This record gives sequence, structure tokens and C-alpha cells, in this order.
Amino acid sequence: AEITVHGNRAKKISDNLFGIFFEDLNYAADGGLYAELIQNRDFEYSSEDGARQGWDSGYAWSVREGGHSSPVTIAVENPLHENNPHYAVLQANPGVALQNDGFDGISLKKGDKYDFSLFARLPEGSKGGKVIVRLLDQDGREVAQSAVNVSTKEWKRQHTVLVANADVRAGVLSLEPKLTGAVHLDMVSLFPQNTFKNRPNGLRADLAQTIADLHPRFMRFPGGCLAHGDGVHNIYNWKETIGPLESRKPQRNLWGYHQTKGLGYFEFFQYCEDIHAEPVPVIAAGVCCQNSQGGGQQGIPMCDMDAFIQDILDLVEYANGDASTEWGRKRAEAGHPEPFRLKYIGIGNEDQITDAFEERFTMIYQALKTKHPEITVIGTAGPFNEGTDYEEGWAIVNQLGVPMVDEHYYQTPGWFLNNQHFYDSYDRKGAKVYLGEYAAHLPGRPNNLEVSLAEAAYMTSLERNGDVVSMASYAPLLAKEGHTQWNPDLIYFDNQTVKPTVNYYVQQLYGQNAGDEYLPSTVKLSDSSENIAKRFPVSVVKDSKTGDLILKMVNILPSATRARIYLEGVTAAGSRAVKTVLSGALEDKNLEPQSSDCEVGQEFTCELPAYSFTVIRFKIK
Ligand code: AHR
Repeated sequence: AEITVHGNRAKKISDNLFGIFFEDLNYAADGGLYAELIQNRDFEYSSEDGARQGWDSGYAWSVREGGHSSPVTIAVENPLHENNPHYAVLQANPGVALQNDGFDGISLKKGDKYDFSLFARLPEGSKGGKVIVRLLDQDGREVAQSAVNVSTKEWKRQHTVLVANADVRAGVLSLEPKLTGAVHLDMVSLFPQNTFKNRPNGLRADLAQTIADLHPRFMRFPGGCLAHGDGVHNIYNWKETIGPLESRKPQRNLWGYHQTKGLGYFEFFQYCEDIHAEPVPVIAAGVCCQNSQGGGQQGIPMCDMDAFIQDILDLVEYANGDASTEWGRKRAEAGHPEPFRLKYIGIGNEDQITDAFEERFTMIYQALKTKHPEITVIGTAGPFNEGTDYEEGWAIVNQLGVPMVDEHYYQTPGWFLNNQHFYDSYDRKGAKVYLGEYAAHLPGRPNNLEVSLAEAAYMTSLERNGDVVSMASYAPLLAKEGHTQWNPDLIYFDNQTVKPTVNYYVQQLYGQNAGDEYLPSTVKLSDSSENIAKRFPVSVVKDSKTGDLILKMVNILPSATRARIYLEGVTAAGSRAVKTVLSGALEDKNLEPQSSDCEVGQEFTCELPAYSFTVIRFKIK
């Protein structure tokens, strides 16, 4: 193959092109990225939470007494907070202990410190004392012990630190009351101290770092379908996710489980700042999930729309307002006096384009445009149907002059290879595109090299069209093994291990090798048929911050190819480059890219293995 890079025809492209899509799906938040180790810490699980039978306020808890186990007693009188009505009542009989199994057990590391806290009070007739806090391994052996005092008739938070003296795969928390009578307990929490960036109420460090290693330029949250819910009452409300943890309003997750909202909007914004990603919150367009009963016809009643819109305006104030504003003050009180510098808000998620949607979306868009012209609103193109290509969604976007639109598609690898021209004809003067969800799907939904290379190939076309495609995110991001509602995902994990997929490494190679200028290139192959060309796409970008030129070459052919590369209108600064290659058999699932040094110049040769994705990066003058 011959590849000629035309440096004199460079064009500006988005410098926010590749980011991440976070949705609390597959236990991505509770039991996942959110580092809380106690499941159902607030006793608010309920039978309405989802498909799981037998969920109630006592889920994951049990009372142990003399080798026997019984359900915990739950009460609701005079609760800690109205949003957190249930709590546990524990009788302090000798040998009684309240236990929690965590999320598939509590995983501990030898020598690590853990912050334990709870709210406790003494009911009438009880006398103060202690609660002994123990961490036990899977065989019941104690690996850490401490205690908290309980002496008040009012709810009071108590805190202690435990240090694990052994590694534990699936342990339990045990609370033994040493007092007279009974004790009321709520918000029982155990956090590792070494969360990501050591944030309190923080994120699991290994998972958060694996995500950060993608170098995402933006982060979309909290969904996906989760954002617009499967009924008006299930629409995600950001205001219920901020403030003291005991005052946050837990909610049924439409993916069939319970969300505590411990990972809420403050934590999302904080994480975005920590990983230098633009925050991209997505709010319902006043209608529910297209896949729920009644779909996009089910909208917030018109009489409630003003309040709903005010909540969205308040979100801008919460993120960007100074501490003298009502909502900016709440952010400052939470520990972040500086603004979060919010620039984008998504309105709607893959919504069915109905009259109910159009009416509500228009109201929200006009309000945001008037009150916050500095915010880029991202509309939705609706569900992707081949043939109609989002016609109805785009018609609304064009009519209102919405600056950006969110498109989603999950298609076969063949579709991605055949549609590398998808954005070539998009109007450069119209709305920009945020490709908010995409992934290549094969029957059985595997993560393997075949789907990953189709995505790598398609991403060359996103870079080529980076003047109209402003942002793109693979979806979904996270999945806890044993709790997946959706495959494939980018990163799988269990309590102890993070397992990035082949698709992850493609996203990482793009994220770590992003540019802000696109340099066209001509590719000559011995067989010039279109069928071969689409299996050998190339993209060249320049990162003007580092002065690096980056070549990305995808070879989805069964044989290795020797590429002769010619630089025109651009000059290599030296002869050394870093070459990173991801290659293997199409069905391979456990591959990692390999990096090595290579030689470059105005002309140079590079071997591109069969079924491979190669990135070459070097300085230019
Ligand atoms: O990414 C999984 C789901 O796919 C999202 O929640 C939804 O937007 C899409 O249909």
C-alpha cells in the first residue's frame, strides 16, 4: 500500500471528539464505580426496584444469633430523613449481630484503611453503649475491628476507621450492639479511604483510573434511558442526587435494580473535573423512554413543565453560579466554591419523535437559549431506523436552530464498514453531531477484535468528519460481571478486578492519540476495489498542543500489508516514532496493544499485520 499524507490540506477538527458515555446500567454506579461497599446501606431497597423477587428494606442484611440467621426488623417512625424513611431496629441480646454481605461480598485489601459510619439513636427505655464493628472474611474470621458509641436519643452520625489485616475476596460487615435495650441504625456505610483522588464519598480508584486512562474529552451522564426513565415518576431528577447522602432520594433504576444516588451530580461534576473531561449532563426532554409503555407519548403534564424547566435552569446555576446564588451556594457548601464550568446540556435521549416530545423539547430549548445562551444544547435525533435516517428529529433541530444533535446506533460490523461515508455529506453549516452511543454488535454480542476493528475503522471516518462531528462516545461504558443487562460493554469488572475489553483499547488509542487538525491522505492499494478500500481506512491528525503527527491505520484484511508512507506539506522533526499495534485473530477477546519504537522520515515503511489497528506518533517541525 502507498499512503500519502497531504499536510497542506489540513482542516480544523473538534478537540473534544472522543469521550465517554456513563449510564447506571449493569451495576455501573452502586456496586461499581461508586466505592460504597455496603449494599442497601439506607434500608430503602423495595419490591418495586425491579425484576428481582424478594427485594425489600432488609435486602443484603441479616441478623445472626447463635449460628442462626433471621431477617432484620425495619421501622419507619420518625426517620432520619423523609427521603430515607426506613431504618433497622436491633435488639441488643448477647451474641446478636447485624450483618451485611455487600455487593457480592465485601472485598478488602490487607493494610488498607476503611471509613465506617452510621447514624444511630436509642429508642425509649434503652441505655447507651457501643456498637462493635467487625469485618469478617468469607470464613467468618475477623480481619478488622473497631467500635462506635451510641448515646443519643436523636439520630447522630458516628464514624470510625478500620484497617484490614488480610486480603479478603468476599467478606461481610458485622455490627454487634453492646448496650441495654435496642438501637436504631441507618445509613450504614463503609468506604475505602483510597478512593480515586482520595475524594470522600468517592469512586473506586482502579475503575475510575481505567476510565481516566481513556483520556476522555467529555463525560456524558447519567444515561441513556436512565435519564428519561420508564414513566413520568421515574425521570431522573438531578436535585434528588445532591446534598447530604441521607437526604438524597433513592429510586428504582429502570434497568431493574436500586439506585442510591450516592453517585450524584456533585460527584459526576467532580469526577469530570478530576479527569479533565467536559461534563455533559443529559436531562429528559419532558417525556419518558421510547421503550417504556406509552413511550414518547408519555410526557410531564403541561402544568408541571414550568417547574421542570426551572430545574434545568437551576442546574446551570448549580454548576456555574457563584456562591451568592441559591444553587451555586449549594455547590460551594458541598466543597466546591469554584464553578464546574458547564458548557453542554443534552435534552432528550433517543426519544421517539412525537408531538408530546416536540412540544416539551421546544419549551425547554427556548428557555435555555434565552436564559443561558452560553450553554450548547444538544438535542436528539431520535431512534435510528435505516431508511428514515432520523428525519423527524433533524427536522425539529433544523427548525429551531439547535446547535448540536445526539445520534445513536448499534449496528453490525458490516454496517460500520459500509457506512464510513455517513457524515461526509452532512451540512457543515447546520447543527454539529454528538454521536452519543454506538457499538458494533455481532450475534451473541461478544467483545472481540472483529467488532473492535469495525469501530476503529468507523472512527477514522469520525476524525475525517471531525469538523461536523464534535463528540462521540462508545456505549455502554461499564458492566459488573454477573449483573449485566446489556452486552457488549467497554469495561467489565468484579469486586477485585477491572477487565478492559479489546474495544476499550481501540477507544484508548483514539483518546490518547486525539488531534485538533485533520490531514487528508490518499491510500493506493494493489486492489483498488471499494470492498478492499473500506477494510483499509487511514486517518491522520495533528495534535497542535504537542506538535505531534498521528497516523492511524486499520487493516481488516487477512494478510499483512507493507505500507510505504509519504509525507507532503509536513516535515518530520526527527527519525523516531512510537508505534502501537493491536492485532490478532478476529475472534480474539483478550488482546492488548503493543508499543515499540520505529523509524520515520519524509518517506518510510511500516508493516501492518493482518487484522490490526496501528497508530504511529511522532514530532513534526
Ligand atoms: O446504551 C444502552 C441503551 O441504549 C441506552 O440506555 C439507550 O439510550 C439506548 O437505547
